[in-house]
Amino acid sequence: MLTVAVLISGTGSNLRALLDAAADPEFPARIVVVGADREADGFAHAEEYGIPTFMVPFAQFASREEWGAELATQLDVWRPDLVVLSGLMRLLPADLVDAWSPRIINTHPAYLPEFPGAHGVRDALAAGVAQTGASVIIVDNGVDSGPILAQERVPVLPGDDEHALHERIKPVERRLLIDVVRRVATGDLDLAAVSASAQL
Ligand code: GAR
Repeated sequence: MLTVAVLISGTGSNLRALLDAAADPEFPARIVVVGADREADGFAHAEEYGIPTFMVPFAQFASREEWGAELATQLDVWRPDLVVLSGLMRLLPADLVDAWSPRIINTHPAYLPEFPGAHGVRDALAAGVAQTGASVIIVDNGVDSGPILAQERVPVLPGDDEHALHERIKPVERRLLIDVVRRVATGDLDLAAVSASAQL
């Protein structure tokens, strides 16, 4: 059984979908802890499932590196097989990424490498594209630049605002994330091999 830590910043709707999937005894992964960089609304989903939570408030640390060191300490308590960034809206310091990559993955609401960064949905709308997408990647030391594990196109429709488009993307993200976690857990998807071949 693959053990998973999920890190969030916000509502945690993708976390919720992963928790619901993992509640199925047939699902080959279990979420063991949920962490956040702030008092995130998404903690409620973890609490509903009786899953422990931790918070490492970014604002209380003098630097990104000190914040990341505390995050690493918390993750070390749980020693998950996989870390999932599911809406964590912070760049991780290199030490933490180096310690966990390739066993750390991220969901992103755009078809990477298009529209990386904190405003993937807004940037796609501003660019006037006809379609954007959702991606799941391995986290590396760039901004949403790691090897792509799964992605799918999502249309931009006339009249879309950022919220409407994001709400159309999120179900796709959830499906991709759940599928990636399942494939990592069953061994169908070898993160180390994907990472190694991306570095060739
Ligand atoms: C998701 O769309 C996720 O991809 C995005 O934040 C949302 C979190 O929603 N993450 C990023 O944009 C990271 N660059 P949720 O809290 O409802 O799951």
